[in-house]
Amino acid sequence: MTTMTETLRDDALDRIFRTARSYSSWLEKPVTDDTLRQVYDLMKWGPTSANTCPARIVFLRTPEARERLRPALSPGNVEKTMKAPVTAIIAYDLLFYEKLPKLFPHNPGMRDLYARNPQLVEVTAKRNSSLQGAYLIIAARALGLDCGPMSGFDNARLDEEFFGAGKECDGCEQEFFPAGHVKSNFLCNLGYGDSSKLFPRGPRLAFEEACTLL
Ligand SMILES: Cc1cc2nc3c(=O)[nH]c(=O)nc-3n(C[C@H](O)[C@H](O)[C@H](O)COP(=O)(O)O)c2cc1C
Repeated sequence: MTTMTETLRDDALDRIFRTARSYSSWLEKPVTDDTLRQVYDLMKWGPTSANTCPARIVFLRTPEARERLRPALSPGNVEKTMKAPVTAIIAYDLLFYEKLPKLFPHNPGMRDLYARNPQLVEVTAKRNSSLQGAYLIIAARALGLDCGPMSGFDNARLDEEFFGAGKECDGCEQEFFPAGHVKSNFLCNLGYGDSSKLFPRGPRLAFEEACTLL
């Protein structure tokens, strides 16, 4: 049992950070819907401001669903995405504050604070859905998956296709998708990566280059 003062074992830290890579090639091993549910059920515990939880996620698992994405992708991202077992669209709901009576019940004024301030809504939705996307990557890696995050796509085109007013979300019942208030943030391919196709890893900035102790 891990207590708050203990660190995770080295092999766990390697899996999540030190040896984890961004993948573009995938083994032919499917990802089950149950695994995707497990990823969400872990990542949802990551913190967001005022517990806003603005991220909304579309998991594309079928070739038909992915074909709808193709026209929005940058040319360099097409093949790796079409061959990935799953592509997650990490999006954010600009009406996230309507859930605050449930998510932040001890401060009923929060809903109105956001409802009155569209600029605050936008910055909050983008910041926290980006964080939640990072939590997704960490959760996926913790559960044995590999990730290939991507921002090389046309957000407006994707939003029109998946979140545009009147669009259907095949097979999903969530009311928020077709209503025009959900916007894409970034994409993340998910699967089991083919490490034989990796390029050598890029370096990172040293502590002294990126951090200051005051
Ligand atoms: C938000 C985000 C957007 C990215 N966009 C792309 C992309 O459009 N296409 C691509 O091939 N890689 C993309 N990458 C992958 C990065 O280049 C990669 O994560 C980085 O070089 C580190 O690689 P490593 O994890 O293998 O060390 C993106 C990564 C992130 C986090």
